[in-house]
Amino acid sequence: MKDTINIGIIGIGSGRGSLMKDCILPRKEVRVAAVCDLYEDRRLDAAAQVEKAGQSRPLISADYREVLAMKDLDVVLIATGWTPHIEIACAAMKAGVYTAVEVGGAYSLDDCWRLVRTHEETGTHCMLMENCCFGRYELLVLNMVRQGLFGEIVHCQGGYRHDLRGEISGGWENRHYRKDNYLLRNCENYPTHELGPLAEVLDINRGNRMVKLNSVASKAAGLHEYIISRQGADSQDAKLRFAQGDVVTTIITCARGETIVLTLDTTLPRAYSRAFHVQGTRGMFSEDNLTIFLDRQDEKFEFNGRGLWGSADSYFEKYDHPLWKSYIEEGVQGGHDGIDWLEFSALFNAVRERAAPPIDVYDMASWMSISTLSEDSIALGGAPIAIPDFTNGKWLTRKDKPF
Ligand SMILES: NC(=O)c1ccc[n+]([C@@H]2O[C@H](COP(=O)([O-])OP(=O)(O)OC[C@H]3O[C@@H](n4cnc5c(N)ncnc54)[C@H](O)[C@@H]3O)[C@@H](O)[C@H]2O)c1
Repeated sequence: MKDTINIGIIGIGSGRGSLMKDCILPRKEVRVAAVCDLYEDRRLDAAAQVEKAGQSRPLISADYREVLAMKDLDVVLIATGWTPHIEIACAAMKAGVYTAVEVGGAYSLDDCWRLVRTHEETGTHCMLMENCCFGRYELLVLNMVRQGLFGEIVHCQGGYRHDLRGEISGGWENRHYRKDNYLLRNCENYPTHELGPLAEVLDINRGNRMVKLNSVASKAAGLHEYIISRQGADSQDAKLRFAQGDVVTTIITCARGETIVLTLDTTLPRAYSRAFHVQGTRGMFSEDNLTIFLDRQDEKFEFNGRGLWGSADSYFEKYDHPLWKSYIEEGVQGGHDGIDWLEFSALFNAVRERAAPPIDVYDMASWMSISTLSEDSIALGGAPIAIPDFTNGKWLTRKDKPF
């Protein structure tokens, strides 16, 4: 077991550039060995942060292959925009470097299979960095589901409901990748924040699997109106026509018969929500009002204006997930309410032990595949599209519960 973990970071942008400061540099046992970005200012700024934290100057490069060729590199974090994720992840696995990839959706099924096959051929591990799987409410619900409190799970919902109109419309000036995607694609482009935790609840790839989906997209009106209101009707960008529908709804059917509804909702005015919703024969959780309803006579519920519900927070004392129980004792830190820190702890523990990550290539391929499959379904008027079994039958007997 190694004392020091050497990490290379590829992609240091506006959204995830802060990870290094929040979740990596504060750890004494982790050394940033390389920083890589296409933009010089971003890689130099990252290197300066590493030195300011008291570490030696890292390799600074614009070419990820230089990073992967380094000796003594233990793990590489790929936090580029979505397009190069799989290409770099496969190159990293081939180089024998433990691979961690930020979230996104797949552009083709071929990419998803490439990921799985590269892992199987090289034996190198690859983790999808889905921080929402480490959310306290998500893990509370998972813990309660595992203890049977919700009965048999029947239906789940989730969403990526985040007003990104500013980020998307300012994409070219801010050197951000989303704008081109929204101009030319129409799909559930960001499925994993909500699907990841739901997949844990439903044992996807471990006794269950996603079998098919149907997706429909509303019209695209939000970005156009936003641009006119901010830049004027005569501006250059007012002429743009976005392909991406404002609200994309995807219904997934699972092998055990559960349904999942995913909603992508990123170009209309709204408050942030992942709309996490889990419903079984004996109870349900709803993120909308942060409540749990259990169909048990011993439960004491309060009238909250719409009916009798229990505040989800009141269940933490008894059912908080063990991961969060010890985390709260140690002290919550890092970004996104502490979930990023937990996620990176899981990554570094796995790297240190050379163990399989909690979110592996089979999870990654199946969750990411929803993007490209939804694109097909929308193009075909909501037609059902089969979701491949990336485990090649191993889901029938895989029993490990990573969370
Ligand atoms: N988990 C979360 O909560 C969360 C939050 C924000 C972003 N993200 C994810 O993080 C990733 C990055 O998002 P962002 O907002 O920081 O993007 P960004 O566009 O601001 O930054 C991406 C960076 O990657 C660099 N890059 C692109 N191709 C590269 C290559 N081949 N080699 C080296 N560098 C390359 C770009 O130059 C850019 O600086 C995305 O996958 C996004 O979905 C996750």
